[in-house]
Amino acid sequence: MTRVQIDRVSKSFAGHGKKAAEVFAVNDVSIDIASGEIHAVIGYSGAGKSTLLRLINGLERATSGEITIGDTLITGFSEKQLREVRGGIGMIFQQFNLLQSRTAQANVEYPLEIAGIAKDERQRRAAELLDFVGLKGKEQAYPEQLSGGQRQRVGIARALATKPGVLLADEATSALDPETSAEVLSLLKEVNREFGITIILITHEMEVVRQIADRVTVMEEGRVVEQGDTYQVFSNPQQNTTRRFVETALPNVPAPEVLEAIKRRGRGTLVTISFTDEGEVDQPVIITTLTKHGVTGSIEGGGVTQVSGRVYGQVTMEIIGDEAKVRAAIAELSQHTTIEEL
Ligand SMILES: Nc1ncnc2c1ncn2[C@@H]1O[C@H](COP(=O)(O)OP(=O)(O)O)[C@@H](O)[C@H]1O
Ligand SMILES: [Mg+2]
Repeated sequence: MTRVQIDRVSKSFAGHGKKAAEVFAVNDVSIDIASGEIHAVIGYSGAGKSTLLRLINGLERATSGEITIGDTLITGFSEKQLREVRGGIGMIFQQFNLLQSRTAQANVEYPLEIAGIAKDERQRRAAELLDFVGLKGKEQAYPEQLSGGQRQRVGIARALATKPGVLLADEATSALDPETSAEVLSLLKEVNREFGITIILITHEMEVVRQIADRVTVMEEGRVVEQGDTYQVFSNPQQNTTRRFVETALPNVPAPEVLEAIKRRGRGTLVTISFTDEGEVDQPVIITTLTKHGVTGSIEGGGVTQVSGRVYGQVTMEIIGDEAKVRAAIAELSQHTTIEEL
């Protein structure tokens, strides 16, 4: 139950080389993350995501701006105070960061040992958490005996051991195959629901955002370029970077070369129709409109998916028929749908 407020935070590093200008890894970033929210921060490599996470858990100090975790303004905290703050934050990592010489059970107990919890309480809690993450029976397995997905489950159990109010995930599913990634993400969703824990996850994959995030912040070169409700950002991206990310999480969007080849063939007019659950758009509207105007359509790509549990999709179609009729059909479709000629 912890709100995280990042208020106009910047972090710069001294530059290298002749000119040696300082590099702003994080530049004037503000994010207000509600208690119990799953917030994704997405950006390409070098966008400043990991630095932002390290600022939140106090492993880096901000050059300017303020970070508040729960009721605690951590800006200006001493190393000792920051260690205490870190105790209330769980972390999971891309490479899991488990202790190879310890069993799953002993890995989960580790943060409890550090916190000085008695042995029987430690054992009880670790066993309970391993059960919760679906690893009952694997307590005595060593990390090398577990699959990637299982290792990350141990990582999640360990992160939850000290009952943190916030869970930070740095590319937590990037090393996993898509199916295992989806399983781990739904476990995180369960953790969020069950414990009301605030989750901040950083990723370069829009698929991760689509599957789990309530809200999303898009970062580029240290700055926030877009921020909002996940469904809103998917259905109405404002920036090119965001549009590129959104396209990667849409089913079967045709590649530019494919679109060019279809256009060259010149059989009809190529359009993209976007589906949201806000309009009255669904397949019957499209087919009905085309039929009414005496034209036909051929689906060339795209499909419908779920974003935050809501319908979203994009279909690329070639509308075929007499030019005037095609124009009339597109005009009518544009009243009911978001339709773009390619
Ligand atoms: N300790 C550091 N010293 C100098 N530059 C850094 C340091 N940490 C990060 N950077 C720079 O800050 C930028 C953002 O890095 P990072 O936060 O790791 O991005 P991301 O996680 O989005 O890939 C990069 O240009 C990186 O080289
Ligand atoms: Mg990173």
